[in-house]
Amino acid sequence: MQKILFLDTTLRDGEQTPGVHVNRSGKLEIARALEQLGVDIIEAGFPAASNGDFGCVAEIARTVKGPVICGLSRCVEGDIEAAAEALKSAERKRINLFIASSSIHMEYKLRMTPEQVGRRVADCVSKAREYFDDIEFSCEDATRSDVEFLIRLFEIAAANGATTLNIPDTVGYACPSEFGALVRTIKEGVKGAENCVISSHCHNDLGMGVANALAAIENGALQVECTINGVGERAGNAALEEIAMAIKTRADCYGVDINLDTTQLYRVSRLVSSLYGVQNPPNKPIVGSNCFLHESGIHQHGIMMNRSTYEIMTPESVGMQAEGFVLGKLSGRHAFAQRLSELGYLTLSEEAVTLLFARFKDYADKKSVTDEDIMAIVNEYLDSQSPVYALETFQIQSGNNTAAMAMVTLSCRGAKMSEAAIGDGPIDAAFNAIHRLSGAGDISLEEFEIRAVTEGTDALGEAKIRLNIDGVGFTGRSVSPDIIEACIRAYINALNKWAAT
Ligand code: KIV
Ligand code: ZN
Repeated sequence: MQKILFLDTTLRDGEQTPGVHVNRSGKLEIARALEQLGVDIIEAGFPAASNGDFGCVAEIARTVKGPVICGLSRCVEGDIEAAAEALKSAERKRINLFIASSSIHMEYKLRMTPEQVGRRVADCVSKAREYFDDIEFSCEDATRSDVEFLIRLFEIAAANGATTLNIPDTVGYACPSEFGALVRTIKEGVKGAENCVISSHCHNDLGMGVANALAAIENGALQVECTINGVGERAGNAALEEIAMAIKTRADCYGVDINLDTTQLYRVSRLVSSLYGVQNPPNKPIVGSNCFLHESGIHQHGIMMNRSTYEIMTPESVGMQAEGFVLGKLSGRHAFAQRLSELGYLTLSEEAVTLLFARFKDYADKKSVTDEDIMAIVNEYLDSQSPVYALETFQIQSGNNTAAMAMVTLSCRGAKMSEAAIGDGPIDAAFNAIHRLSGAGDISLEEFEIRAVTEGTDALGEAKIRLNIDGVGFTGRSVSPDIIEACIRAYINALNKWAAT
């Protein structure tokens, strides 16, 4: 059966989810999990976008073997050089060159004529050929572009050495029948397309990202671009797990196969959700917590007789089987390390596992520890790698008829500094003190969420916040049995993301 290639762009387009910034350690964990899942191509980032992105792509290229590692690039010479440099140690590498092709983008964003865009495509694909054999070319906003012009651009790209022709529905505007027809037109109408893979890249603004990707497959696309859990800008991208399970479950309909090990889907989904701080709703297809639960008596009866009465997939097929064992205070380091890899953490060093095991033991002494607790502990550790600001101490005074006052000491690049501030309650006072210490300009708190990770008064508390710093959003998160400390650490976590930009 024909295999469909999966290009996962969780680390690039997915990281464009508002407020999401994942550091290098977190990205490496996700890249490893994607490798285990069996994705064919990992779009690891946009090397020219920032030093941080460049470093992440370079590290993934150095350490993740198996999938092709891809870097995004505008049709700009400096971007192509940055991508070539970042990807130089990849076992197999690809550049994804893009330029906008719709009139609205060319006129208002690029300020270029169609002729200039055509010449730029020829020049940049040829330039990329100096470094890459594997070249993807994407027409941004393809679905709102003039079809004749789109064909021309793809022909120019193919003639100059592009090997994959990608059709993005950048703003999630297309309908499935229309998108399928466009894919067929490109496949059959572009001279040189017969030597290229045709690819779809669908966004979900009208909730049709997955349907459009499947329509593309029905019309000859051999590659789909997608993200885990459908994360991404605005309403996100087509969700990898939904496309994969549609192809598997309805093989009779699509008649194609995939290289993915679908039993990894739940694990990777949980890892991305936890590291991105974006929770799936319970009814999220394939990986939501309700997907294999049955509430009504009639359904329960049917399931007891035969699961296929109300289930079209098994939980095992997406890796959702019951956990093997529960970890507690008597669990050893070996069992803990094994649980970490079962949860999808594959890059932790021996020292990191030892440190995390000690933290786990501290919690396990007081209560039973769930997978969510463990993930919260590991994510906090990953988030805190190479910070600019670190919490040294804090003291807070508050009462019901007095203003709260906080004294916070932070270390910043080795130097300790303290500030005191008052506020409307202990958390506000602590945030005010940290804001002063940070030297950051305008900070407003856009979102603030506190929840108990587990049950009971001794539960681990998780704090998530979103700061708007000079107009840009940064999320921070932390866990601690002390909820005020969790809030302070979450604030510092968000500041560190700002400091790293
Ligand atoms: O949505 C889009 O158009 C993209 C391109 C950069 C491939 O993400
Ligand atoms: Zn996109």
